[in-house]
Amino acid sequence: MIDIVIYIVGTAILAMWLMLPAYISNPMAVVFGGGTPIDMGVKWIDGQRILGDGKTIRGLVGGTACGIVAGLVQLYVASIFSISIFPTLTAVITLSFGALLGDLIKSFFKRRIGFVRGAELPLIDQLDFVAGAWLLTYIFDPVWFTEHFISSPSIIVTVLVLTPILHRLTNIFGYNIKLKKEPW
Ligand code: CTP
Ligand code: MG
Repeated sequence: MIDIVIYIVGTAILAMWLMLPAYISNPMAVVFGGGTPIDMGVKWIDGQRILGDGKTIRGLVGGTACGIVAGLVQLYVASIFSISIFPTLTAVITLSFGALLGDLIKSFFKRRIGFVRGAELPLIDQLDFVAGAWLLTYIFDPVWFTEHFISSPSIIVTVLVLTPILHRLTNIFGYNIKLKKEPW
């Protein structure tokens, strides 16, 4: 029994460690967000905004930068404590930027199906950034991604289960400190 608990906790910690740059860039976009929207207010042919006011340049740049800084700190910590598992420099960048790219692409499709900015799309709102981070990392660093994710399905499953929970808790916190308009 205790073996199982240690295995589950260990896998959860490893999953969060591997996803760290994405787990930082996504909430930091909320912290830095505001100002000029990425779509500059332009509408798509359906009359709706391309992305909406919820996707801003400051959020994208600030969030990505924070994710990269977190990843660099992670590499430093890994070297000091001789931790053998850590992201490559490419993965630090693709996890950080890919997370926000995934969120942005989701907003594009959300607008197309007529969801106004901020409307909740369960599970998709929570996993969009994981999909973006994984896809971009797979494209630019397939070796690292295959070694740590594709060849360990337990990590994939853990991320898919853990992320919506962490996302929800973070957003409830963000809502309570009045950083976010909705608690999702
Ligand atoms: N944010 C931002 N730029 C980004 C991503 C997020 O400025 N690239 C900020 C915005 O202030 C946004 C908040 O973070 O309102 C919450 O992000 P999210 O929930 O992803 O956006 P929503 O406002 O819910 O918009 P959407 O319906 O498009 O998901
Ligand atoms: Mg939202």
